[in-house]
Amino acid sequence: MGNIFAVTNQKGGVGKTTTTVNLAASLAENGKKVLLIDLDPQGNATTGCGIDKAPIEKSSYDLLVGDASAEEVIVSRDDFSFDVIPTNADLTAAEIELLDEPEREYRLRNSLVPVQDRYDYVLIDCPPSLSMLTLNALVASKGVIIPIQCEYYALEGLSSLLKTIERVKQRANPTLTISGLIRTMFDARNNLANQVSRQLINHFDKKVFHTIIPRNVRLAEAPSHGIPVVTYDRGSRGSIAYLALAGEFMRREQS
Ligand SMILES: Nc1ncnc2c1ncn2[C@@H]1O[C@H](COP(=O)(O)OP(=O)(O)OP(=O)(O)O)[C@@H](O)[C@H]1O
Ligand SMILES: [Mg+2]
Repeated sequence: MGNIFAVTNQKGGVGKTTTTVNLAASLAENGKKVLLIDLDPQGNATTGCGIDKAPIEKSSYDLLVGDASAEEVIVSRDDFSFDVIPTNADLTAAEIELLDEPEREYRLRNSLVPVQDRYDYVLIDCPPSLSMLTLNALVASKGVIIPIQCEYYALEGLSSLLKTIERVKQRANPTLTISGLIRTMFDARNNLANQVSRQLINHFDKKVFHTIIPRNVRLAEAPSHGIPVVTYDRGSRGSIAYLALAGEFMRREQS
């Protein structure tokens, strides 16, 4: 699954969706063909990409439960720089409906096979839990992108995420790797943030992306307009940071 990446961290509100949408847009700015998959029933990436959740007929839910093919759920728009598989609250039911299904954690992986070669990168926005949805994303992926907000509890949940990644590697996806950890919503004036950042580098070394995403209000505003920050305010610090992250990500993934 050479070009699929799960953006995940079971801690809520750490910048997963912001990173998925803006990394997708920044990769597209570099001429890459990108597919974003919204695998969080909250549907924040869906709205952040300017898609109204209410009238969606086919979503990532239909893909997982086998009611639709990837072709049928992909939203491709001429005026938008990347494709999206949207979602809505229906996806909550997938968890329960898949419980008794065989190979339930392989659903996403199998369903993407017919379309994944059309894209340079496929990015999956995960929910804030280590659920069946996140498992599906990990089983489908080549790499895991982990956004981290550098605050006191940042490292606590990380060990269970790492254990889950290890388990998925052993059982279902032996080549799964950690693509990188991204420091998000960073405030360099905050001592604690700098301290946690140093701990991350001590522990994860080169796995920590050099690019730091600063706290920037334009990043928080862009989703209400249904566009990525590179479209909303290209010169903003948030936009510049995500464009830099895309550059670093592409260099890493080529080498
Ligand atoms: N770098 C940033 N600067 C300012 N605000 C940010 C930044 N990154 C994210 N935010 C805001 O912080 C909130 C949480 O971000 P986001 O939704 O990306 O996190 P998440 O990890 O996807 O959350 P959830 O776990 O609920 O899915 C959002 O309101 C978002 O707009
Ligand atoms: Mg989110």
